Amino acid sequence: MTIVSPTMSHRRAEPQATAQAPTPPPMRVAVIGAGRGGTALLDVLHQIGTIEVVGIVDKIPTAPGLRRAQELNVAVYDQVSDLIKNQRPSLVMDVTGDPTMESVLKEQVPPGTDIINGLTSRLLWLLIQHETTLQTELLHAEKLAGIGSFAAGIAHDINNPLQLILGLAENLTDETDLEAVHAQAKDIIEAVKRTTAICRDLTSYSRRTSLRPDGLISVNGKLDEAMKIARYAVALQDIEIRKHYQPDVVVKGNPDQLLHVFVNLITNAVQAMEHQGILTLETTGVDGGTQVRVSDTGSGIPPELLNRIFDPFFTTKPPGKGTGLGLYNIKNVIHHMHGTITVESQVGRGSTFTLTFPEKTGQSVEGSS
Ligand SMILES: Nc1ncnc2c1ncn2[C@@H]1O[C@H](COP(=O)(O)OP(=O)(O)OP(=O)(O)O)[C@@H](O)[C@H]1O
Ligand SMILES: [Mg+2]
Repeated sequence: MTIVSPTMSHRRAEPQATAQAPTPPPMRVAVIGAGRGGTALLDVLHQIGTIEVVGIVDKIPTAPGLRRAQELNVAVYDQVSDLIKNQRPSLVMDVTGDPTMESVLKEQVPPGTDIINGLTSRLLWLLIQHETTLQTELLHAEKLAGIGSFAAGIAHDINNPLQLILGLAENLTDETDLEAVHAQAKDIIEAVKRTTAICRDLTSYSRRTSLRPDGLISVNGKLDEAMKIARYAVALQDIEIRKHYQPDVVVKGNPDQLLHVFVNLITNAVQAMEHQGILTLETTGVDGGTQVRVSDTGSGIPPELLNRIFDPFFTTKPPGKGTGLGLYNIKNVIHHMHGTITVESQVGRGSTFTLTFPEKTGQSVEGSS
């Protein structure tokens, strides 16, 4: 049987209703102002299953929140009155920072509808920013915790060129033929370059993800980069790697965060196969968007755990082996990129994690290789 977990879709599943306590209808929220505050608010509210964002309004047609709203299928307006009349929200959140909006809302909003504005909405904005900072810190903490497991792989990869350098240097002490000296010096330089490349990859991986801006990222290049990093964390000798890449597939987001997502998914997949099996990486341009699939032929996930694997600190690994933050952070990054993540799994057969991103257009592409 194939199981698709509903909690992993972009919009979280409604809490399960019980016979005694029926689930209340979602809170209908309207957002006034589609600048940075409105956009952030939209992103956060959209992830909460008990809230329905019924519309957003801004006079400026190019306001970033209006574009985001269209991606999320939220109704867009340029007049407050139209939004209120058509959508009948139960809560209106004003994040315009415009002092005249208060009187406009008092006129337009019918009695019984709550309004959040002024200092209250500023407080909300500060809380959202704080939450974003915490998520970034958590991502970094989890990444650093994971790097401990890279030690054996790094030691192995650095030790090989070091042994070669030692052997060549020992030869050189007795070597009198100038041509042979030159050839061995060249080999030493190549070996040193290999160790430098390892250090460069890992330093760039462990840096804070907030340092680089969002941009267009070549997905195939990022997956290849992630494979290079993941091999320090997990042994890949007996894993068959199949790549089905559609050329020129791009997504918009933070390149370091996407790399982290891919490294985590690949690491999980290989760990589930107990170092033997087939890892398949697939990229496709689907209708108006991009899909990335990471599949393994590993242990699979029991149906009763499917709803829990994205929870923070959920792990089936022995104490000290996993933080249980990998998939939780992945989910946050994907949501931030306005994508969705779903999983299909069969116990004993394997799992497929599918990431779907909305369509993006733009000029410069980072991460091609
Ligand atoms: N590809 C997979 N196959 C089978 N089970 C998986 C797979 N990916 C994740 N899981 C399950 O989900 C759990 C949570 O994964 P997550 O990446 O969040 O944490 P972790 O891997 O346990 O810890 P860490 O990521 O810190 O090593 C895992 O412990 C495992 O039980
Ligand atoms: Mg993990």
